[in-house]
Amino acid sequence: MSHVLSHETDGVLQLTLDRPEKKNALTGDMYHALSDGLEQASANAAIRAVLLCGNGPAFSSGNDVNDFLSRGDADPQTTPSVRFIKALARFDKPLVAAVQGLAVGIGTTMLLHCDLVYASADARFSTPFSKLGLVPEAGSSLLLPQRIGAVRANAMLMLGEALDAENAVVAGLVNALFPAETLVAQALDKARALAALPAAALLASKALIQGDRTLLDARIDEELVAFGRALRSDEAKAAFGAFLNRARG
Ligand code: COA
Repeated sequence: MSHVLSHETDGVLQLTLDRPEKKNALTGDMYHALSDGLEQASANAAIRAVLLCGNGPAFSSGNDVNDFLSRGDADPQTTPSVRFIKALARFDKPLVAAVQGLAVGIGTTMLLHCDLVYASADARFSTPFSKLGLVPEAGSSLLLPQRIGAVRANAMLMLGEALDAENAVVAGLVNALFPAETLVAQALDKARALAALPAAALLASKALIQGDRTLLDARIDEELVAFGRALRSDEAKAAFGAFLNRARG
């Protein structure tokens, strides 16, 4: 079971993370389902925009920590998460996200590839890579400073500080806050609005706004080398072990 729901409405493909009991922690199957969704959306002229959202109290607690530990010496270039990151980075149609609650790790870095991001007031964005003995991924070492400025990005990517919803709007990570009860419906309205616009002009606009992607592609690959090395480190193994063996109240 992939734990990703796929639903098409009015030219919008809605991809919903659906593993609420694990705070939508992302597994290999989920990355493949998300990548399949993006690739199908790209190839299907009837789909004009994609909405990413999540069921339950959290948008996503990031990569499944058990998957990190079981990855071992697998080539970091061929993991399902890398397939997803690359599918996101090259996705050519409008991409909208609706974020409630926690967005940890790739739960936040995937948003840097979205064209519009909406959130509820309880949203909390964090990229605690260094605390976990890891390094930034998904191009975030390039895209986060570009989006929110270097010093804010350093607080997130180096200190591991979280950004709350209001500050995420101020920083430019999020477009607007919507009430939690209507968040997905309102984000879907924005995606529908994009889907109703002249498709060719919108695609051309997105390509122009993104500009040359050579630097981003190269950075994603550089990050992957460093990430693969970090993942095998004692520091990272200790951090994952501490999470999995933590005392539960
Ligand atoms: N990988 C695997 N399982 C995860 C997970 C993750 N990233 N995030 C949460 N879970 C699981 C928990 O182990 C728990 O499972 P259990 O009920 O079988 O014990 C369940 O999801 C609920 O999480 P819990 O920790 O009880 O919720 P919380 O509200 O107290 O804390 C988080 C939420 C996200 C702060 C906390 O779960 C956490 O720190 N997760 C790890 C985040 C992380 O390091 N991600 C990788 C980033 S690169």
